[in-house]
Amino acid sequence: MQSWLPIPESASTVSGDVDALYFYLSGITIFFTLLISGVVIYFVIRYRRRNAFEIPRPIEGSTKLESLWSVIPFLIAMTFFIWGVKVYFNLYRPAQNAIEIYVVGKQWMWKFQHATGQREINELHVPVGRKIKLIMTTEDTIHDLFVPAFRTKIDVVPGRYTSEWFEATKPGRYHFFCAEYCGMNHSGMGGYVVVMEPAEFENWLSGNAGQASPAVAGRGLFESLGCASCHGANAEGGRGPALIGLFGSKVVLKDNQSVSADESYIRESILNPQAKIATGFGPIMPSFQGQISEEQLLQVVAYVKSLSTAKPEASTAKPPPAAAKPSPTAKTGASPK
Ligand code: CUA
Repeated sequence: MQSWLPIPESASTVSGDVDALYFYLSGITIFFTLLISGVVIYFVIRYRRRNAFEIPRPIEGSTKLESLWSVIPFLIAMTFFIWGVKVYFNLYRPAQNAIEIYVVGKQWMWKFQHATGQREINELHVPVGRKIKLIMTTEDTIHDLFVPAFRTKIDVVPGRYTSEWFEATKPGRYHFFCAEYCGMNHSGMGGYVVVMEPAEFENWLSGNAGQASPAVAGRGLFESLGCASCHGANAEGGRGPALIGLFGSKVVLKDNQSVSADESYIRESILNPQAKIATGFGPIMPSFQGQISEEQLLQVVAYVKSLSTAKPEASTAKPPPAAAKPSPTAKTGASPK
């Protein structure tokens, strides 16, 4: 219905709200532009100087009029603000019960990994009608993932996790691209979100099985990097804090401050362990800066997360399942509703 307008297709639950606000802003702007230009032209003609000796009547000003043209624009501006805040918070408040997908930007490609292990480059398959939460970072410089049809757009920033969510409303292929200049091939750093019917998506997922889930890969890294020597073979603790149940909890630090153990905290504690040491532990952990890529970091974070969110079997002493048979049921958000 909007095909006559030069705006992208509308294909997510928020795109209608964003468009409505955009049209409202444009409408008000056009209205006042026409009104003010019209009045200017009218006054120029109506009050033009009619003879060379004409002296205008002095004007004292009018408090009533001046208040009116201050208060009315103020109220109109407040509607922009309130409506804008509403749309903004809806967009940036983390989604609940979302399917989580990890994203790493890199010169010049987008890498995605599903919680069930499937990896993709410059293409992202998602089911229609489900909230998708992207947990994002970058290997090098700042990039920005922009999906015009979903009206979602957010930077990926070195050394930090950002996140965005969307819920696609109709199947299709939607262009996405990097919206932050990042060097020579910036313009080619894009691809497509493929939105599928849930059953079709399940099919796609199982057809692309065979890759270890991020949590399982993270467990492998946990062992190969020697984390187990301090955090326990099953992350139950030892010379380092126990990691079971850590994610999402409050960690009390040496100076009695507390931080919430989110993705960023886990990441920081791996790269810069001295930054926030949990109370009762010494500053003995070495930094893993330079030994682990952003993708691997996300996998270790996924492992630590799985120790708090997944069912008990994920955190028992079993060795990591063979990479050929990841179980989609053990991970969060994989089952369609
Ligand atoms: Cu990445 Cu521009």
